[in-house]
Amino acid sequence: MRKRIFSGAQPTGELHLGNYLGALKNWVALQTEYESFYCIVNLHAITLPQDPATLRQKTLDLARIYLAAGVDPERSTIFIQSDVPEHAELAWVLNCVARMGELERMTQFKDKGKGEERASVGLFTYPVLMASDILLYQTDLVPVGQDQKQHLELTRDLAERFNRDFGETFVVPDPYIPPVGAAIMSLKEPEKKMSKSDENLNSTIFLLDDADTITKKYKKAVTDSGTEITFDGSRPAISNLLTIYHLLSGKPTKDCEAHFEGKGYGDFKSELAEVTIEFLKPFQERVREYDDDSLEAILKSGAEKASAVASETLKNVYQSMGIR
Ligand code: TYM
Repeated sequence: MRKRIFSGAQPTGELHLGNYLGALKNWVALQTEYESFYCIVNLHAITLPQDPATLRQKTLDLARIYLAAGVDPERSTIFIQSDVPEHAELAWVLNCVARMGELERMTQFKDKGKGEERASVGLFTYPVLMASDILLYQTDLVPVGQDQKQHLELTRDLAERFNRDFGETFVVPDPYIPPVGAAIMSLKEPEKKMSKSDENLNSTIFLLDDADTITKKYKKAVTDSGTEITFDGSRPAISNLLTIYHLLSGKPTKDCEAHFEGKGYGDFKSELAEVTIEFLKPFQERVREYDDDSLEAILKSGAEKASAVASETLKNVYQSMGIR
């Protein structure tokens, strides 16, 4: 049997180059080899307040982004999390397996909850819903960016604990975190990751940004002292920009360095803008390709395929626990 992949993204904000280079690019590359499930995790989105009409729209927009990025509905299963109710059901079960202490150690909760009494309980148990997503599909590999590593470790711990206490039930999944591109950094503060929710829009290149906006954002991007354009951990701003150039141009790292030898930051930034615009142009055209009806048909068939696998796993889980 082919090995399985599961991954997903939240339908909040706009997707950016970090999401693409850290995750979606690898989903597309791996879908030929693996049986792949790519989910739009709208139940995760409501762990923070969302406007209902916007959430509904963003959920469909994100499906279009998956397709435009190259996720092939003939090969991969694309579906919306809430269309498969087993995600929420298994999350309840796993909430009874997870421990307060381990969730309290999750850095995402510390960052997003900011220690506030008002943070939702859903935000606290967010990683458990994520474990449920992954384990329902008996997933072997989960392609994600670096920021999801801790959640993947928790997922493995929950699967192992469940298997130990109730008998072999879940495949214990491995993360797939790409060697390059797993953490694309902010253009304004290269010590922070590029993020959908950054208040400074100049920090982030969105996948739907137009050419002019892209050029302006790179112009405003911070650089490091010195003049060299090389991969060098002690010069995080230039390394980050060069990583983006390397991944979007497809040129080997050594060739990128050689190409920019003796050139200034200004030239580098305009070439980086060109490469980005060239890369995003066909992507942005493809986003508009799917009309509502064909999109709904893809999502419906995706939900059916996902349900068949998810219901089987949940049945086994209930059986091993003595739940009728
Ligand atoms: P989300 O929606 O925040 O991000 C989607 C994917 O993009 C990656 N990513 C990045 N990669 C590189 N550089 C960056 N600056 C960057 N920012 C984001 C994320 O690592 C992610 O892979 N919790 C998940 C969604 C989720 C999920 C799952 C993922 C829910 N259930 C099950 C995998 C498996 C999230 O919020 O992703």
